[in-house]
Amino acid sequence: HEDELQELFEATIARHDRLEPRDWMPEGYRRTLVRQIAQHAHSEIIGMQPEGNWIGRAPSLRRKAVLLAKVQDEAGHGLYLYSATETLGVSRDELTEMLIDGRQKYSSIFNYPTLSYADVGTIGWLVDGAAICNQVPLCRTSFGPYGRAMIRVCKEESFHQRQGFELLMTMMRGTEEQQAMVQESVDRFWWPALMMFGPPDADSPNTAQSMAWGIKTHTNDELRQKFVDMTVPQAARLGVTLPDPDLRWNPERGHHDFGQPDWQEFARVVKGHGPCNAQRVAHRRQAWEDGAWVREAATAYAAKQEESA
Ligand code: ACO
Repeated sequence: HEDELQELFEATIARHDRLEPRDWMPEGYRRTLVRQIAQHAHSEIIGMQPEGNWIGRAPSLRRKAVLLAKVQDEAGHGLYLYSATETLGVSRDELTEMLIDGRQKYSSIFNYPTLSYADVGTIGWLVDGAAICNQVPLCRTSFGPYGRAMIRVCKEESFHQRQGFELLMTMMRGTEEQQAMVQESVDRFWWPALMMFGPPDADSPNTAQSMAWGIKTHTNDELRQKFVDMTVPQAARLGVTLPDPDLRWNPERGHHDFGQPDWQEFARVVKGHGPCNAQRVAHRRQAWEDGAWVREAATAYAAKQEESA
């Protein structure tokens, strides 16, 4: 019986069809999905912090409204993704506990500080730009609830990317000080943005299996290349320099050649030793503990409703 189920699963993957929560799936497939979708959800929620840092200091009502909407969207993305993970049999409470005690990861990028207002623009342009490159292919991932969540998330991410680019363009048309702020911010975020795609393919333990299962449809290096090719003309449009002396167009490959990020720094950040890891997790833990009474009250209320029904 198990063999037949396995065959059915493999046939679904082979014809690029989707698995749904009630379908039989190998334990490894389920585990990989829980790992990746939870990590993705945590990234959305932790990612609210660096930008949330600027809501109270946005320079105009318009900028504040855009930033608020954007940060709220990230909360929504986290919730769709936690819901997708719940269809695999893990509750949101369990996932949050795993995040705050360090058993699950979130994206390295959110462990860097936001030091100037230009960072709001740079995060939209580069970080959300990288997220779009990574997430558009995930709309066709083999697990239905994840792919469907990605369709909506990607639509909102394109708005985020546009607002970032527009913010930076406005600053680049401003004073010399504003232009320098943008360049300084791009210099800080460029390499961490390249790290978002994960380690080079040769050092990525999960890629081969995740591609065979149709969870990932492109490798980390393929998507990193796509991001660089997409971003270089945008940088020219903005009038900023990308801080990589090895960056140049290679006509033979039809792609840009570029340098490698500092992979030792990446390893340190992923292990929890980046500039803001402790602060990000402490903040999340505090919010979780402060919200305990709300969860308890909601549970008590639901129990009462059930009793009287
Ligand atoms: N930050 C933190 N951890 C990372 C990162 C990163 N940028 N890249 C890779 N890792 C981790 C992996 O989770 C894995 O660790 P684990 O096995 O302990 O879970 C390890 O490094 C090795 O990497 P890979 O074998 O390449 O892992 P994987 O196949 O999962 O690929 C990737 C990593 C590309 C990030 C993939 O998980 C993915 O596409 N995730 C969905 C997108 C996502 O999470 N985006 C969040 C940031 S975007 C945003 O929120 C705006």
